[in-house]
Amino acid sequence: MPDPRRILITGANGTLGHATARYFLEKDAACQVFLGVRERRETAAALVAAFPDRAFLCPLEITDAESWTTALAQIEAASGPLSVLINNAGYHDDALLATMTLPQWSGVLDANLNAVFLGCQAAMQPMMRQRWGRIINIASLSALHSPAGQTNYAAAKAGVLGLTQSLAKETARMGITVNAICPGHIEGALPANWSEDQIKAVKRETPMRRFARPEEIAAVVFFLASPEASYMTGASLKLDGALV
Ligand SMILES: NC(=O)c1ccc[n+]([C@@H]2O[C@H](COP(=O)([O-])OP(=O)(O)OC[C@H]3O[C@@H](n4cnc5c(N)ncnc54)[C@H](OP(=O)(O)O)[C@@H]3O)[C@@H](O)[C@H]2O)c1
Repeated sequence: MPDPRRILITGANGTLGHATARYFLEKDAACQVFLGVRERRETAAALVAAFPDRAFLCPLEITDAESWTTALAQIEAASGPLSVLINNAGYHDDALLATMTLPQWSGVLDANLNAVFLGCQAAMQPMMRQRWGRIINIASLSALHSPAGQTNYAAAKAGVLGLTQSLAKETARMGITVNAICPGHIEGALPANWSEDQIKAVKRETPMRRFARPEEIAAVVFFLASPEASYMTGASLKLDGALV
């Protein structure tokens, strides 16, 4: 394993990205974490202030191939080749298919699926050179158990699972593992339009009677990025408190 591990987390200003970055910084005193940010950067900047020697902002528009090239070149010049990529950034834009606009469809496909392709492709060179790498793609339970109103998001996230499985086979003999995570609902990151009653109802449906804490998802990402996870590749892990 490269020492230190250089980790890029996309969407690191968001709820899960931030929690994941913090988890790595707290659990591995040697690692360097590059926080992929687009416009908003307040929580990522707070992490940089807390870990000034090991956390760095990394401007990155995940749907733009050139932005990936620039970001990875900057990481390499500042520190060395990337060893862990966490494709976390994404969003949903729900609508019934009958009324979904093409930009709603394409935007979600671009950010949640095409961007994962771009990120994985950009990470291949540095990881192949090191003959070591870890790619963790954050998909969603919607990929496996797709609710109405999410045809775009469910298709994108299901695509991520297929990409993960196929790429894992391509990189299996290069020391590079590729896995995906399918979180259910995450505390602190619920859809803004959910009412208190709706939240209570979904919790009641969940056998654990609660949503995941972001740290509980981060802990699994941390394991997948570890040297101990060396035989786990091409997997899609459901983290949903047994909801489905
Ligand atoms: N929340 C949940 O319950 C849940 C459940 C299952 C799966 N997930 C998945 O988990 C991941 C993180 O979700 P979250 O809840 O932490 O979301 P979040 O708080 O909304 O954060 C998402 C992050 O992605 C960034 N982003 C979006 N599009 C981007 C682009 N084109 N280029 C660069 N950055 C972009 C956002 O940047 P800006 O701040 O600049 O907008 C934001 O920092 C997503 O892939 C999501 O689909 C979430």
